[in-house]
Amino acid sequence: MHPLTLGSNGHVSQPLHFYKDQSQAPEWMIKTNAKIQAANGLIIVTPEYNCMLPPGLTSMMDQFPPASYRYKPCGIVCYSMGEVHLVDYEQLLFRPFLSELGLVTTPQVCVIPHVQGKFNDEGECQDERVKKNMEKVIDEIQWYGSAIMDKIKADGLPS
Ligand SMILES: Cc1cc2nc3c(=O)[nH]c(=O)nc-3n(C[C@H](O)[C@H](O)[C@H](O)COP(=O)(O)O)c2cc1C
Repeated sequence: MHPLTLGSNGHVSQPLHFYKDQSQAPEWMIKTNAKIQAANGLIIVTPEYNCMLPPGLTSMMDQFPPASYRYKPCGIVCYSMGEVHLVDYEQLLFRPFLSELGLVTTPQVCVIPHVQGKFNDEGECQDERVKKNMEKVIDEIQWYGSAIMDKIKADGLPS
């Protein structure tokens, strides 16, 4: 068994790519990394915390090497109880973080302000605007994902 290594802030202190021998990393880390590597694209669904990215989300994503994320399309879905601070949140905070990991964010995002009441008890969305935006995010992930895959097949990865 490999216990979690926590820093003084309670976050995991050693990301997977900092291990000299990655087989010594905790099992959850190795398994999650394999899932990220196997994915053709990602959708990040996140609340807004104090007009910022939730630290639990960035801390979790930090645990995996950028190589696992690189060249993958990524959609953003964010929700909050009040307004979503779109300009600050998406454009200034979230996109640079995801790009730094090597993800290719879709231009279309799905923003859900006042999330309470927009889903029924079965988790189905009751809001036409949110549904339409979500469909656009998914379309763009598929479009960017196949364009990237075709390019990699034809020419390989950049050096
Ligand atoms: C620490 C913390 C900070 C939050 N800050 C905001 C905020 O700044 N604006 C907002 O509209 N909602 C805020 N919320 C509400 C969340 O965006 C979210 O809607 C709420 O946590 C319910 O979603 P969840 O059950 O997935 O956490 C905050 C919640 C928490 C726990």
